Amino acid sequence: MKQNVGTEEAIKRWDAFADTYSKNHTEQGDLHKEVFLNPTLFSLMGDVKNKKVLDAGCGEGYLSRILSKSGSIVTAVDYSPIMIEIAKGRTPKDLLIDYRQGNCEELNILEDESFDLIVSNMVIHDLANYEKAFQEMYRLLVDGGSFIFSILHPCFVTPECGWEKTESGEKLHWNVDKYFHEGAYEQGLGDKEKMLFFHRTLTSYINTLIKTGFVLESIEEPKPSIEILKKHPSFEEDFRCADFIVFKLKK
Ligand SMILES: C[S@@+](CC[C@H](N)C(=O)[O-])C[C@H]1O[C@@H](n2cnc3c(N)ncnc32)[C@H](O)[C@@H]1O
Repeated sequence: MKQNVGTEEAIKRWDAFADTYSKNHTEQGDLHKEVFLNPTLFSLMGDVKNKKVLDAGCGEGYLSRILSKSGSIVTAVDYSPIMIEIAKGRTPKDLLIDYRQGNCEELNILEDESFDLIVSNMVIHDLANYEKAFQEMYRLLVDGGSFIFSILHPCFVTPECGWEKTESGEKLHWNVDKYFHEGAYEQGLGDKEKMLFFHRTLTSYINTLIKTGFVLESIEEPKPSIEILKKHPSFEEDFRCADFIVFKLKK
C-alpha cells in the first residue's frame, strides 16, 4: 500500500498517461467498455433525451459524445487538463458539450441541483476522498435524479490479486488478497504506466452511499453477452469472476 498519496498524485499520472490511454479509445471507448460497461450503463440510464447529464471524470469523452448524440445536454468534467484538451479535440463542433476541468471531490464550479443524471465511468476508485465526491454528486442532482457509476469490482480487484497459473501458463484460479486493506495502491494499466487507485470494501461503498442520502436502485456485475462471446471467445474467462460493478442510486 502507498502511504500519503492522494488525488493530486493520481491526476499527475493520468496526465502522463492521457495520450496512450486515449489512443486505445474509439467512439465506443475501449474493448472492455464496449463489452461490459456500455451495455450496462445504457440500460441503467434509459432514455437520456433532453436530460441534463454530468459525465464525472469524462476522460477523452467518448461517453459524453454518445450522450450528446442521444439528445442529452452534457457537462463533462475531468481533473486532468490533458484529458480535457483531448476530449475537446475529439468533439465535433455540432456537439455542444460543456467541458470543464475540475476535481470530482470539489465541484463548486457547478451549481446545486443542476443535473437529472450523473454518470461516472471507472473514476470513483481514482479518488482519495470518495465520501466528498458522493456528497458532491448528491448536491448536484435534482430531487429524484440518478447517479450511475462503475468501478473495478472491489471484491475481486484488490491491492493484491491476479491469476494463479501453472508453469505452462494455464490459468488455475484468480487469487484475492488484502481485501480489507483500504487505501492507495498501484495498478499497471499500460506497458509500463502504473496508475494510483484507492481500494475500499463493498461495505464501505454501500454504507457511504447510504450515509450520503442516496437510495440504492440497482447493482449490476456486467458479463459478456452470447454475441460478444461468439466474436471474442477469450472473454469466456470473465464468467469466472467479476471485473466490474455498476451502481444506480437515486436522490
Ligand atoms: C479510467 S478513466 C475513465 C474516463 C472515462 N470516464 C471513460 O469511461 O472513458 C478515469 C478518468 O478519471 C479522471 N479522474 C481521476 N481523478 C479525478 C478527479 N478527482 N476528478 C475528476 N476526474 C478525475 C482521470 O483523469 C481519467 O480521465
